[in-house]
Amino acid sequence: MHILGISGSLRKASLNSAALRACADLLPPGATMSVFDLSPIPLYDEDVRQQGLPEPVQRLREQIRAADALLIATPEYNYSIPGVLKNAIDWASRPPEQPFADKPVALIGATPGGFGTSRAQYHLRQVFVYLNAHLLNQPEAFISAAPTKFDEQGKLTDAATAEQLRKLLAALAEWTRRLQG
Ligand SMILES: Cc1cc2nc3c(=O)[nH]c(=O)nc-3n(C[C@H](O)[C@H](O)[C@H](O)COP(=O)(O)O)c2cc1C
Repeated sequence: MHILGISGSLRKASLNSAALRACADLLPPGATMSVFDLSPIPLYDEDVRQQGLPEPVQRLREQIRAADALLIATPEYNYSIPGVLKNAIDWASRPPEQPFADKPVALIGATPGGFGTSRAQYHLRQVFVYLNAHLLNQPEAFISAAPTKFDEQGKLTDAATAEQLRKLLAALAEWTRRLQG
C-alpha cells in the first residue's frame, strides 16, 4: 500500500513537513510513503490550463492517482487552508478524471498555536466532500504547541504525538483496505 504525503508548507523548517517525515517512520507493516513537493506548482490560471496542464501539475495528478491513499499535513492560515495547498488541490481537481474521487485521505496538521490546525482541517474536509474523496474520520491528529514537540532538526521528540500518528496511519491503512474491498 502506497501513501502519498503532501505538506501545505513550502518552508524548509516547516513543522508540517517535519510531521510528514515523522509519519514515514511510523507506518504500519506493508505500507510505503513518498512526499510530493508543492513548490513547483504555479498559481492557478485558467488561461494556462486551456493550453495544457503544467508539468508539475501533471506529475501531482499522476502521483495522486497512483497512490492508494493520501496523507495531507496542513498548516492553518487565518483559521483556514493555506493558499499553497488550496492552489495545488484546485489544479489537481480539474476535469477530466479528477484524481481525488474515491481516494482515501487522512489529515494531520501542526501549529505553534493551541488548536492544532483543527479549523483548517475542517475546511479541507469540506473541500473534499465536493471532490468525493473518502476522509478518515477517526482518529484525528491536531499537533498543538508543535515547536515543543520537534527538535531543531525537525525530528519528532514527543512520544504521545508519535503514538497518535502511529494510530492514525494504522487506521488509514485499514480504511484504505476496506474501501478497496
Ligand atoms: C498568514 C499566516 C496565518 C496564520 N494563521 C494561523 C492560524 O489561523 N492558526 C494557527 O494555529 N496558526 C496560524 N499561523 C501560524 C502557523 O501555524 C505557523 O506559521 C506554522 O509554523 C506554519 O506551518 P509550517 O511550520 O508547516 O510552515 C499563521 C501563519 C501565517 C504565516
